[in-house]
Amino acid sequence: MITGKNPPFMMPYTALFGIIGHPLAHSMSPALHNWAFSRAGIAGFYMAWPLQPEKLPAFFDAARALPVRGGNITLPHKVTSMALLDGLSPRAQRVGAINTFYWDDACLCGDNTDVAGFLDPLAHRRILSALVLGAGGASRAVLAGLKELEVPDIGVSNRTAGKAETLAEEFGVHHVPWDDRTSSGADCIINATTQGMAGEGVDNTPLPARAFRGKGLAYDIVYNPLETRFLREAGVAGWDTQDGLAMFVGQARESFRLWHRDKDMPAREAAALVKRLLAADV
Ligand code: ATR
Repeated sequence: MITGKNPPFMMPYTALFGIIGHPLAHSMSPALHNWAFSRAGIAGFYMAWPLQPEKLPAFFDAARALPVRGGNITLPHKVTSMALLDGLSPRAQRVGAINTFYWDDACLCGDNTDVAGFLDPLAHRRILSALVLGAGGASRAVLAGLKELEVPDIGVSNRTAGKAETLAEEFGVHHVPWDDRTSSGADCIINATTQGMAGEGVDNTPLPARAFRGKGLAYDIVYNPLETRFLREAGVAGWDTQDGLAMFVGQARESFRLWHRDKDMPAREAAALVKRLLAADV
């Protein structure tokens, strides 16, 4: 861990951190971590590194050669990055996807802090049946979280059925065919697809509004924008809604702790900062 009193740009040996993903235009991680570094007096700088899938091996070679102290991994690299690291935490092995890399002595390791972030807002909620929409890297963290909560009935549904079938088998949950997702009867529906995320699919939803029958909780892991069409339509139908902000801040805090073991990122201030940035559309 490197600390210093001066702003990061004044330090001769600033430690580098960053996020890799493709596309990466809408990530708030650089703003959030740079704020937290500065607040904690850490001489680090966190960058956005857009990265095409074929450049992934070259990236981790570069990370080993440069003063890169850690970083985050987002779509579509959450699963494919695992094979390129020296070690994986037990949690990452259980989930089968990573969103964080960090150094443990000479070992460049991977971990998954999305699970803890996903669970943060569910601490006092009892869920009897859950339906996860999507079968990418993020869905793995959601499924691992729901298993940790011991939700009795968990289903997973995906546009590409084969991927959901694989996840269903791996996590011991059931597969819900995409065409049947509107009639699952689940009391908690989680959007872990990219539908509704800022960018091309911002006006899309993975679920027709008629699916919100009775009462339940709609949880969107998308945080940009905070109110997606999925949540808006759930709210109109009288469902409780949970946006992706708490998960985003929760995973960021866990990553921060992995990189700077004796330091913390304050949750409430972090959430307020991200909200301000989203409102300013930066
Ligand atoms: P992440 O790591 O965030 O999970 P990902 O691995 O790229 O990202 O997964 C994206 C998810 O969004 C997938 O489940 C994808 O469905 P497919 O497996 O069928 O591609 C889902 N998704 C993307 N676009 C979608 C769309 N237009 N309709 C429904 N699901 C979509």
